[in-house]
Amino acid sequence: MKHAALLGTGSCLPRRILTNSDLEKMVETSDDWIVSRTGIRTRRIAGKGEDNFRLAGRAAKKALNMAGLSAADVDLILVATITPHMMMPSCACFVQAEIGAENAFAYDLNAACSGFLYGLDLADKYIASQPDMNVLLIGSETLSARINWQDRNTCILFGDGAGAVVLSGSDTRGVQASCLYSDGRLWNLLYMDSPESLNPEIKQKDRRGCYMQMSGPDVFKFAVRSMEQAIRNLLRKENLSIDDLALVIPHQANIRILNKLVERLVIPEEKIFINVERYGNTSAASIPIALDEVNRKNRLQRGDKLLFCSFGGGFTWGAVLMQW
Ligand code: UT7
Repeated sequence: MKHAALLGTGSCLPRRILTNSDLEKMVETSDDWIVSRTGIRTRRIAGKGEDNFRLAGRAAKKALNMAGLSAADVDLILVATITPHMMMPSCACFVQAEIGAENAFAYDLNAACSGFLYGLDLADKYIASQPDMNVLLIGSETLSARINWQDRNTCILFGDGAGAVVLSGSDTRGVQASCLYSDGRLWNLLYMDSPESLNPEIKQKDRRGCYMQMSGPDVFKFAVRSMEQAIRNLLRKENLSIDDLALVIPHQANIRILNKLVERLVIPEEKIFINVERYGNTSAASIPIALDEVNRKNRLQRGDKLLFCSFGGGFTWGAVLMQW
């Protein structure tokens, strides 16, 4: 059976950098507080010409370029996002038009910060049944449009960006196993209400506020417990231990969540990739942005085992194992 293996990766971050000292001028907070509680120092904020689908399209072009494919070779575009340009059509259809992938079918999926992992699992299943498919999977967010910039509990945490991967069938490389979970009973600990349009051309003047709402300490505890459990379940299922992994790429939510994971699972420091200090939490985009960085730094060798884990609104969480 064929597995979904990486042919190329790409990412695109908005130009504008928002620092902790910029935030000190906007809400009652401090660089010290933000760094010690979250590990975040800067995040990127989308501006003019950096709509979700445009960031996604640029990341996609870089991934296709690395894969040596053209947009016409793409059979399926999946975009994981909670901040689509519009409710309908999907962000994936906007990306299709943006890059000229005329032979693809395209749709979005929403699993919040776990969206990229749900997408990897889905792409793997498409490829298992149709081995010749080329799948373009993107995690892309413009969360800054859905943040209440007066709420210091949330505005310090999130950032914008996009990461993309091109996947195609391989007998040996690619997705090996996944453990995905959700618990809709806990929705009100982390949510965003029905959105107004993000399309500046039709944006309503009246912003009634469909902003990110979060019970931080509850999310924190659940995130640590659930990601630990997902990783343990996946390793048990595959008869592997942490020693067998070359690298763990977690959803980049908060350095303290990641430190707790490292402590509980005894992951050596050099085996976990962290860039949350530069980009903050970019939800569905965080893992593919990190993956592109890892790939472009040539940190992995053929045959290495790579583990992704995530946690997000829903709640949704999970872990995916990939062979490089
Ligand atoms: O993908 C998943 C998305 N969500 C997350 O990853 C978030 C998970 N949660 C967290 O990362 C943490 O809960 C936060 C970083 C959000 C908050 O850290 P905490 O240690 O849980 O702080 P807290 O909410 O318990 O608040 C402690 C104090 C409070 O003041 P009092 O009541 O003790 O006087 C807050 O009002 O810190 C205050 N506070 C702040 N102070 C300065 C909250 N936000 C800020 C802030 N600057 N930005």
